[in-house]
Amino acid sequence: MRDFLIAPSILSADFARLGEEVDAVLTAGADVVHFDVMDNHFVPNLTIGPMVCKALRDYGVTAPIDVHLMVQPVDSIVPEFAKAGASMITFHPEASIHTDRTLQLIRDHGCKAGLVFNPATPLHYLDYVMDKIDMILLMSVNPGFGGQSFIPSTLDKLREVRQRIDASGRDIILEVDGGVKTDNIRAIAEAGADMFVAGSAIFNQPDYKKVITEMRAELAA
Ligand code: DX5
Ligand code: ZN
Repeated sequence: MRDFLIAPSILSADFARLGEEVDAVLTAGADVVHFDVMDNHFVPNLTIGPMVCKALRDYGVTAPIDVHLMVQPVDSIVPEFAKAGASMITFHPEASIHTDRTLQLIRDHGCKAGLVFNPATPLHYLDYVMDKIDMILLMSVNPGFGGQSFIPSTLDKLREVRQRIDASGRDIILEVDGGVKTDNIRAIAEAGADMFVAGSAIFNQPDYKKVITEMRAELAA
């Protein structure tokens, strides 16, 4: 069986108690902390930056932090996030003028690098950079907000990306973000994903362990 990673998006956490919330999901069995960075320019919302990432590290979070940049420009914030303790940094290629350079910049700072595709963004951005990619994130909602519904056409796109990854022979993580719930996670895994971001599905429930355990059961089924 493939290794599946569950990455709660802290966008739906209680920001007044962020350290405790992150501890709680990790204790409940999460693998990775998904950290949504929105700038009210590339996407219509404003969230958190490197200071909050560093605060989580200072608080004692040792799990991988997956920084999803929804910002423009991209390059200027990459070193700041690397310094703040990011483990993985993904960005939207249409937000960067030089995709190849940004991927290299992220890797030069010691983080895993990945591209994020909006629902309508074509996959051709993968051409010529597969050797510089550690992860590919497919958005299954339009970015900006938690709590939206999964866009079904993402399943076909996932299958296509899975084929490209397999053909490359490289160990690239295929991540999906938006509207992931207990009742669709299995279909998403069958389409080829191995890392699952879930915000509202986890944080809007009183018992994080119960949801994460149910998700794992679906993945094992
Ligand atoms: C949306 C963010 C997602 C979001 C997912 O722009 O990138 O990470 O928090 O939230 P849910 O799981 O509620 O769709
Ligand atoms: Zn995200």
